Amino acid sequence: MKILVTGATGNVGRMVVDELLARGATDVRALTNDPAKAQLPPGVEVARGFLGRLETLPDALAGVEKMYLAPHPATVFEVCRLAADAGVRQIVDMAGAKGGTWQVIEDGVEASGVAYTHLEPGEFMANSELWSAQIAAGDVVRDAYGDVVNAPIAQEDIAAVAAEVLLSDRHAGRSYELTGPEALSRRQMVAAIGRALGRDLTYVELTGSEARAHFESIMGEYGEWYLDGLAQLADHPQAAVSTVADLLGRPAMAYEEWARRHADLFR
Ligand SMILES: NC(=O)c1ccc[n+]([C@@H]2O[C@H](COP(=O)([O-])OP(=O)(O)OC[C@H]3O[C@@H](n4cnc5c(N)ncnc54)[C@H](OP(=O)(O)O)[C@@H]3O)[C@@H](O)[C@H]2O)c1
Repeated sequence: MKILVTGATGNVGRMVVDELLARGATDVRALTNDPAKAQLPPGVEVARGFLGRLETLPDALAGVEKMYLAPHPATVFEVCRLAADAGVRQIVDMAGAKGGTWQVIEDGVEASGVAYTHLEPGEFMANSELWSAQIAAGDVVRDAYGDVVNAPIAQEDIAAVAAEVLLSDRHAGRSYELTGPEALSRRQMVAAIGRALGRDLTYVELTGSEARAHFESIMGEYGEWYLDGLAQLADHPQAAVSTVADLLGRPAMAYEEWARRHADLFR
């Protein structure tokens, strides 16, 4: 069974390749613009291309039975139609919470008529990289909505779930909300990074125009969108769900562990 991993040099796609191999998959094709950058493991077939360059896809999709679909909203309808034409029989997509920013991915997949499994992660633990410049520079983290809670997920777990689902036929038509194992406030996440670094970090709460200016300075045009998301979380905190553990038979990675593994991001 040939499996195409799109976005195969991305943070998630690259780990999907590794997780498939670790589970014994022997016919993995990886889609990338730049095979040299990808440094894919031996035995993985490389297709040169990108979800945004539709002309590259018919060759990449030839003979493929299942596909991991990285999130590229601009062409998702066309990509999934091409997958259907090529005879792909299951698409496992990474989208997000239903009705949110990534809904268009699920819409494009479903419009193709191909059997699907939607992976719906919330915030990634890796989004904490937002704090990396401040933490590298000193012990103070200026941020906003320090007490709102959500249950961010490690990208490692999204990739493991994607591989598990790709290698089984039991998940067709299912949507899986994916979170980490616990809901944490932003103050608690900063403290966990501090513990991983052996440092005592001070969280400084920003509000109003100060918060807007800060997020715009670090995220540009997405600053306001991100702050709006935090404001919504204040009204609707995100609880942890057990999907990752249910699907993988082991606990999802805790934030504390993620911070230890990725401490170099903050040094
Ligand atoms: N809650 C969340 O934080 C959340 C939830 C759901 C989804 N997401 C989104 O999920 C994505 C995850 O990132 P990821 O690193 O796994 O994958 P990605 O950003 O989708 O990128 C995967 C690969 O696609 C290619 N690519 C991406 N954009 C391109 C462009 N505009 N032009 C040319 N090539 C491009 C690059 O590979 P090559 O150069 O090798 O071709 C890249 O390594 C992010 O976009 C994130 O915003 C986030």
